[in-house]
Amino acid sequence: MTTARRVRFSYPPETEPVWTPHRPEFSCAANSVSMLMPAIEPYFVRSARRALPLLTGELQHEAEAYVTQESQHFSQHVVFNRLIVEHYPAMARLESASKRIYRYLEASRSLEFSLAFAAASETMAYSAARWAAQRRSELFSDPSTDDTAATLFLWHLAEEVEHKSVAHDIYRAAVQRPKRALASPRFVAAMALSLALVVFFVFAGTAVMLWGERRLFHPVSWMRLLRWVILFSFELLTNLVLSLLPGFHPEDFVDPIFYDVWLDEFDTAAGTLPMWNSVADST
Ligand SMILES: [Fe+2]
Ligand SMILES: [Fe+2]
Repeated sequence: MTTARRVRFSYPPETEPVWTPHRPEFSCAANSVSMLMPAIEPYFVRSARRALPLLTGELQHEAEAYVTQESQHFSQHVVFNRLIVEHYPAMARLESASKRIYRYLEASRSLEFSLAFAAASETMAYSAARWAAQRRSELFSDPSTDDTAATLFLWHLAEEVEHKSVAHDIYRAAVQRPKRALASPRFVAAMALSLALVVFFVFAGTAVMLWGERRLFHPVSWMRLLRWVILFSFELLTNLVLSLLPGFHPEDFVDPIFYDVWLDEFDTAAGTLPMWNSVADST
């Protein structure tokens, strides 16, 4: 069940944008994703809102909670992104370019395309969450990790797993697509476009931040990034292909149990953020 949580993060002025100093490349890549959120998630939110009158019963409640979760995500990334742009002013250009592109998509495409775009993007978000859960010790558990930034990203990833089915269900219900049908060409096009845009902006943003950290030509940085990209590609491409098959439903994906436990702790610890270290290695 999708739970609407209200969370507020704040960062002391001395917070560094490289919040995983033991793996600075990971911070650069994750921050590039963060910079995209205020462009892409409002698009999902507005598309889901447009579909609300077409939904009924439990799905309508789930869709409303989904809208609340995604709205919370991008508004909290806006706060974190200020810190990123302060340190790497060139990121402001990428940010405004991404906002223009997603706004153009929203204005020029049908509701069906936009809902397909959101559903495909949610499979990508779920895949990222699985990938990060499998590598949480390497990525987050070093004592030098900034707990508040880690909590922001883990909270977001955990809720992506929690609402992994909602955009898919909204799309199917709004376009009245039979469950047993193969994905439509429009769905495949929306998926390909979503993937291409994310790859472009994450690559460009990571390069800008690596340059800012004087690590753009550092062989170790590229070896680490290459290893992560290869492992993530296996996870992502498998899930994307599965999501195109007849009868697919995101509930068929197995959730990492880590996020369930983490969200339970998160709900219990409400108001006492950050709380990452308390459950870092508990599952
Ligand atoms: Fe999100
Ligand atoms: Fe999402």
